[in-house]
Amino acid sequence: MPISPSYLDELVARNPIEEVVGQYVSLTRRSSNLFGLCPFHSEKTPSFSVAPDKGIYYCFGCHKGGGVVNFIMEIESLSFRDAVIFLAKRANMPLPDDGRPDAVSKQRDRLLALCKASAKYYHEQLKLPHGEPARAYFAKRALSPATITRFGLGYAPDGWNGLIDAMTAQGFTKEELLAAGLALKHQTKGTVYDRFRNRVMFPIIDVRGNVIAFGGRVLDDSTPKYLNSSETLIFNKRRNLFALNIAKKSKADYIILTEGYMDAIALHQYGFDCAVASLGTSLTEEHVNLLSKYTNKLILTYDSDEAGQNATRRALPMLEKAGIAVKVLRMQGAKDPDEFLKKYGADAFHSLLNKSENQAEYFLNALLRKYDLTIDDQKIAFAREAAQTIAAMPNAVERDVYCRRAAEAAGVSPEAIRIEAEKARKKMARAKRIRQERENTAVSQMHQPKERTIRYENMRSAMAEEGLLQQLAKEPELFERVDLDESLFSVPLLGRAYSAMRAQYEQGRTVSVASLGEAFSAEETAHLSSVLQKRGDLISDQAIDDYIRVIREEHAKSNMSVEERLRAAQDRANKN
Ligand code: GTP
Ligand code: MN
Repeated sequence: MPISPSYLDELVARNPIEEVVGQYVSLTRRSSNLFGLCPFHSEKTPSFSVAPDKGIYYCFGCHKGGGVVNFIMEIESLSFRDAVIFLAKRANMPLPDDGRPDAVSKQRDRLLALCKASAKYYHEQLKLPHGEPARAYFAKRALSPATITRFGLGYAPDGWNGLIDAMTAQGFTKEELLAAGLALKHQTKGTVYDRFRNRVMFPIIDVRGNVIAFGGRVLDDSTPKYLNSSETLIFNKRRNLFALNIAKKSKADYIILTEGYMDAIALHQYGFDCAVASLGTSLTEEHVNLLSKYTNKLILTYDSDEAGQNATRRALPMLEKAGIAVKVLRMQGAKDPDEFLKKYGADAFHSLLNKSENQAEYFLNALLRKYDLTIDDQKIAFAREAAQTIAAMPNAVERDVYCRRAAEAAGVSPEAIRIEAEKARKKMARAKRIRQERENTAVSQMHQPKERTIRYENMRSAMAEEGLLQQLAKEPELFERVDLDESLFSVPLLGRAYSAMRAQYEQGRTVSVASLGEAFSAEETAHLSSVLQKRGDLISDQAIDDYIRVIREEHAKSNMSVEERLRAAQDRANKN
């Protein structure tokens, strides 16, 4: 059943956009709008705007936008209905449809309950006689009983249906086990069996403390070494980090990012309670966003092998872009933090942390390792590449420091490196200027919707349609003076929005994009928000009649034949 307009109006009214968004983004006021760092893309300067009077948000950087319901859909990854329910609960409103939660959130709750019960089951197996191999394995990896408890580690016994039997006895169904990624179905026989067998188990817990998935490791050298739950309704490995639920409470003002579960766990055991691990994927934009909610300082401790170093080079700019100061920890004598801690202990790791390199140092040191500076050719190549790296540094003092360092390493004069770096800077600046000019000259391109699925064919009419909607949203009483029909609009989406807003006005509802409901897609709503957020305050009151005139003129033109157009053009020319 669709959600009624009046319910939606009340929901929107009881969930002021600035309050809801304010729970995720810290906002500061700038004239009538609030601004903050966009939660949907990485950025250092705020381009995310909230207009409390219009009930909308819009990001000038990534072009996401909409009302409070769209915001919750996007940030919590919920459907329209689930977002409405989420906001209803937030405002202590009765749920739509007599309070029956919808199918999806019911399913979500069931799967979370199942994962929680499964974690308990796996953990209990450790204490049973058949848990002996897992106990021995953890002992071999030197995990203390406290660590095992703290992370809720467990054991999936050898067998095909240990978990299935235990969970169905608790009332869960095989379908739910499949949906939670805990069981598999035999392709031909159709029988259902446990996904995790004879593996030590690592529950993956989200920041709210829900068990959402598992990683399982073999006890020997067989493959695959690690097995993770498949992606499910409740688990997305691109959006979650192992141990963040614990690390977020750490007193440290930085986070240590590792490659493996075992590394994160070992770090915690040795007192570094701010360690997290990505879940067998390279770092994603979503991870970066998530991390930036908890810290602005990060130390990368990827493995010292080539794959780890490649991952480091990839991660550095992503993190810097999000305003996170990154340092890279370089390990020698061990392949990963787990191994290092066991060999050298916590104090040694601590001094590694203190010695970790910032991005510039990391790149320069990598260059030093890459080139043999006893050979002249390589010295020149080193100087050139170092100059490139230095040229990209935004700070003059920093550039100076690294020029000296690079020069010293290469045994050339600092002046030589500085000249190379300045050349590279000029070249970069020129490239940037050309890029900007290109962007600026494409004026009509600028007014094209950022949303690629929406095109403006008639720019003159489209601009008038946008202006009209801005005015009407601001002063709905103006609808009394506007007698346009949707079909006169050159942009169908703007025409539909006009009609929907007109209906809101005529039904005595609040006129707002925030309560348009499901008739408009996320992309359409985002575009409408961008229309209402741009140049909104520059429009004069009397312009509304001009807009109406332009829309009518352009519509009439679009219906003319080629001959009629020619004649109209000649008439205009004769008049002048
Ligand atoms: P240990 O041998 O237990 O110390 O593992 P590690 O922590 O040193 O892990 P490794 O560097 O081999 O891998 C890092 C991470 O990649 C692991 O924590 C897993 O998340 C993931 N991973 C490793 N091997 C596999 C695999 O075979 N399959 C999958 N899906 N993920 C893996
Ligand atoms: Mn390891």
